[in-house]
Amino acid sequence: MQRLENKIALVTGAGQGIGQAMATQFAREGAEVYIADLDETNARTASEQIAEAGGSAHPLVADVTNPDDVAAMYEQIKSKSGHLNILVNNAGIHIRTDFRHADDETVDKVFDVNLRGVIRCAREGFDLLRASENGCIINLSSIMAENHVRQLSIYATTKGGVSSLSRALALEYAPYNIRVNYLLPGFIDTELTKRFTKNPVISKELIDRTPLRRFGTPDDVAKAALYLASDDAAFITGMGLTVDGGVSITV
Ligand SMILES: NC(=O)c1ccc[n+]([C@@H]2O[C@H](COP(=O)([O-])OP(=O)(O)OC[C@H]3O[C@@H](n4cnc5c(N)ncnc54)[C@H](O)[C@@H]3O)[C@@H](O)[C@H]2O)c1
Repeated sequence: MQRLENKIALVTGAGQGIGQAMATQFAREGAEVYIADLDETNARTASEQIAEAGGSAHPLVADVTNPDDVAAMYEQIKSKSGHLNILVNNAGIHIRTDFRHADDETVDKVFDVNLRGVIRCAREGFDLLRASENGCIINLSSIMAENHVRQLSIYATTKGGVSSLSRALALEYAPYNIRVNYLLPGFIDTELTKRFTKNPVISKELIDRTPLRRFGTPDDVAKAALYLASDDAAFITGMGLTVDGGVSITV
């Protein structure tokens, strides 16, 4: 038996990177997956690749910062599937700036996607998750919520908010049998981090600091997400799972 058989899943920002890997992993384990992304081409390509491998996926073009898009996204899921078992709030952006130069526009942009987007999708998805009678939310936080590097203070603040929100929401959604957990990835090789991973000096420094001596892959995170999404984690809620090759345990 596949681990997500008969489950309906939605992954935001699933057109590439970690989101795409999670959607692919979920589909491989039998879930019907909605691939939501700003980028229509990537959402379609990711869905087609899943279908070619024998899975079931539907592309949805949705900007998590846009309330109309989020409402339309859930309307489509409601009409096609009637409920939702798994919501992964993965869409996120990264802005690197000295704190003293972070103007309001920059702060708003990062907060809108990384924090308000998560709040909006978790709130508006409630009815569909409750309708499944066995729902779960997985939010993408980051080790940056707790461990810091220079110039990522605004990003780190949003991820701290995602971790807190996940724990608080676990309490509020538990009576409806909706579990809420969060992932704290370390340095994962994706478009988001290519400024670090493709720079020979920075990448060497980061790998040297990582006990398992490599960058993580999107699949490393997807496998952790698969566990949290599956019934194997049926008694786990309000918890953060770190996927970082040990980097956050070092001094
Ligand atoms: N890569 C890492 O090292 C790392 C580490 C910790 C946490 N994370 C988190 O994991 C998540 C995924 O990161 P990634 O590395 O795969 O990034 P990525 O840039 O490769 O992919 C992000 C995806 O989100 C989509 N997106 C961006 N804004 C959106 C919006 N407003 N609405 C809908 N979709 C939107 C993009 O189009 C893209 O497809 C993010 O929340 C990120 O903060 C990543």
